[in-house]
Amino acid sequence: MTTQDILVSEGLAVGHGGNVIMTSIDFRLAPGRILAIVGPSGCGKSTLMRSLSGLDLPLGGRSEVLGLDLAVATATEREGTLRRLGFLFQGSALFSSLTLRENVELPMREFLRAPRREIRALAEYKLALVGLADAMDKMPAEISGGMAKRAGIARAMALDPDLIFLDEPSAGLDPLTSGRLDELILKLRDTFGTTIVLVSHEVPSILRIADFCVYLDPDAGRMGAYGPPRDFLAAGSHAKAHAFFSQARIS
Ligand SMILES: Nc1ncnc2c1ncn2[C@@H]1O[C@H](COP(=O)(O)OP(=O)(O)O)[C@@H](O)[C@H]1O
Ligand SMILES: [Mg+2]
Repeated sequence: MTTQDILVSEGLAVGHGGNVIMTSIDFRLAPGRILAIVGPSGCGKSTLMRSLSGLDLPLGGRSEVLGLDLAVATATEREGTLRRLGFLFQGSALFSSLTLRENVELPMREFLRAPRREIRALAEYKLALVGLADAMDKMPAEISGGMAKRAGIARAMALDPDLIFLDEPSAGLDPLTSGRLDELILKLRDTFGTTIVLVSHEVPSILRIADFCVYLDPDAGRMGAYGPPRDFLAAGSHAKAHAFFSQARIS
C-alpha cells in the first residue's frame, strides 16, 4: 500500500483557449510535500498552477488532483475537489472594504454550515496562526505587504485545504519578511500536513523549503527538469535549471 499522491501529471500540456504553451509536465507529489514551480517570467507557471488545481482543464496528457482525473471528471466532481484546495493568486488582494477577520470569514460563510460565532472563532484561529492575532480588526490598507500576504494565506487556509497553491507569495517583500513567510509555510505543512505548491523566484527560499522543483523551459516549451532543488546546484544537472539555481546563489 502506498499513500495516494496528491498530484500526478503525466505528459500534461497546459495553455489558454486551446493554445498550448507548455508540454511534457511529468511529476508526482506525495502528501505533505512542498513543490516549487520555477522558470522565467511569462513561461507558464501561473497557467500550470491553474491546470494542476482543475481551475483549467488539461490540454493534453493526464492530470490528477487529490485522486481526481481531471480529463474525465464531471464539473460537479471538480467543484467538490476545488473546495479542498486553497489559493493565494499572484498579486491577489484582500477585499479592501472588509477587515482581515471578515476576509478570512468570507469563504467560511460561503461553504461552512456553522453558526456565526463559530466561524468567527475559526477565523481568529487562522489569523493567530499566521501571526496576525493583534491585527484582525484592521483594514487591508492599514497593514504592510508582508502582513497582507499572511492574511491571504490565512484566507487560503480557511477551509482546511489538503493542498494549497501560493503564486509568488514573497514577490515584493524584503528578505527578512520573506524569510518569515518561509517559516510560516513550513509551519503550515508541519502542523496540518498540508501539501503546498508555490511559484517563486527566490532561490535561497526554494532551497530552504521546497522538497521538489519543476523547472519550466520556455525555449523548449516543455518541462525542463524535475527533482529536489539541491540537485540543480550540481554541475552536470539540467543546464538551465542549474544556471537558475547557481546564478542567484552568488547574489
Ligand atoms: N487568461 C489568459 N489568456 C490567454 N493567454 C494568457 C492568459 N493568462 C496568461 N496568458 C499567457 O500565457 C503565458 C504564460 O503566462 P503565465 O502562466 O502567467 O506565466 P508566468 O506565471 O510564468 O509568468 C503568457 O504568454 C501569458 O501572456
Ligand atoms: Mg505567474
